[in-house]
Amino acid sequence: MPLPQKKIGLLFGMEDTFPWALIRAIDARGEGDIVGAQVELSYLRDTQRFDYALIVDRISHEVPFYRTFLKAAAARGVQIVNNPFWWAADDKYFGNIVAESVGVATPRTVLLPHKERPPNTEANSYRNLRFVDWNEIFAYLGFPVFMKPAYGGGWKDVYKCDGPEEFFAAYDRSRDLTMMAQEAIDFTEYYRCYTIGRERVHLMRYDPKASHYDRYVQNAPPIEPAMDERLRRDALALSQALGYDMNTVELAVRDGIPYAIDFTNPAPDADLKSVGEANFRWVVDNMADVLIDRVRRPRPFELTGAWPHSLNLTNLFERAT
Ligand SMILES: Nc1ncnc2c1ncn2[C@@H]1O[C@H](COP(=O)(O)OP(=O)(O)O)[C@@H](O)[C@H]1O
Ligand SMILES: [Mg+2]
Repeated sequence: MPLPQKKIGLLFGMEDTFPWALIRAIDARGEGDIVGAQVELSYLRDTQRFDYALIVDRISHEVPFYRTFLKAAAARGVQIVNNPFWWAADDKYFGNIVAESVGVATPRTVLLPHKERPPNTEANSYRNLRFVDWNEIFAYLGFPVFMKPAYGGGWKDVYKCDGPEEFFAAYDRSRDLTMMAQEAIDFTEYYRCYTIGRERVHLMRYDPKASHYDRYVQNAPPIEPAMDERLRRDALALSQALGYDMNTVELAVRDGIPYAIDFTNPAPDADLKSVGEANFRWVVDNMADVLIDRVRRPRPFELTGAWPHSLNLTNLFERAT
């Protein structure tokens, strides 16, 4: 009698190359007992059970209904890549604190109070808040500064500011977003690295100043071995600390030091048209291998990655008593 098949479900939105290629790759490598499939769902009952061993989430950051669906599926024992509980909680500013705890350099960064009041708040909602000393911030960061949302992605609401005037103009445009401002890294090289399964890394030379479809530099020169090793170490350390099985880590190199710029990307761009054929092949094949391995050797349920350990929080109770 054939073994019962285990399903790896894909939950995705507008993207049209990566999900289908990943389903085909899973089918090709799954030896018949593990197959890839598009997730199908409708309304959810509180008693719902789910027919997937694992679900790959590419879209729940944009569809809150899906996020709740994934948490329910996790509660019923489905493995979810990436962890919906942690994904819902992380942000770029917190990420910098995690980065420091695993020895990865980041640009000097500050978090700013909202420019405009979020809905349902009024002046009295901010009684805890004191005025910001802007000159202190400018002295700490220096110019130019990058301002961007802590809960952000997709290059939306990202501003480069050369002086206070541009800084305040950007801040004025930030509505009620939670913005952070950071030192601009004047880099000689910029890398975007896929990390898969918290153990595999693929380095891609990236040119953020090029037009959208030319940013992934094709036929880039080889990376010097010590730098290659450092980039891999940093990218993996971040993804392990954050507990992401699929992630991209952006590193800007200044004076031989890679600075982590953008490394909380649990649904990273994996479109054939933007990353190019070779990078696409790598991410599809390695994702398929890692997911199949996860189905064969499930990971214990976790709420987050390794950061409670790297920040030395796990023994807080012992220390306090
Ligand atoms: N501190 C910084 N130094 C230099 N460049 C930066 C910095 N922060 C952001 N950038 C540039 O802005 C781009 C978008 O910012 P990023 O943090 O990657 O936001 P998103 O998550 O929206 O992609 C980066 O790819 C990089 O080119
Ligand atoms: Mg980015």
